[in-house]
Amino acid sequence: MKVKVSRKAHFNAAHRLYRKDWSDDKNNAVFGKCNNPNFHGHNYELIVSVFGEIDSETGFVVDMKVLKDLIKEKVEDALDHKNLNVEVPEFKELNPTAENISVVIWNKLRTHIDANHELEVKLYETPRNFVTYWG
Ligand code: NI
Repeated sequence: MKVKVSRKAHFNAAHRLYRKDWSDDKNNAVFGKCNNPNFHGHNYELIVSVFGEIDSETGFVVDMKVLKDLIKEKVEDALDHKNLNVEVPEFKELNPTAENISVVIWNKLRTHIDANHELEVKLYETPRNFVTYWG
């Protein structure tokens, strides 16, 4: 029997969306307010889901305590209250869109999740805008 279990988490972070190789006009046209040179913040809501067989001994797919600590260590400690462009190495050359942030989070977690389990990352940049990545 396969079940998907999910854990919610939260972090605040600042970012700016732009490309160094584009003109100011083009950056403004494509990224609008998100190209503010002084950065701006979001309250990101994260849902990490693990899909797999229920362990016959524990009755768990994954130990929620372990998943909680993993998200804290790998995601919250790395991203919370950070300027993503300036302080997070993965975004030195990568635009910190919700899409790219979800892929970065997935990559940070994947090696720590049982290889037999599927991993899904859902990231809300605003209550109405969210992206989903599952590898
Ligand atoms: Ni933004």
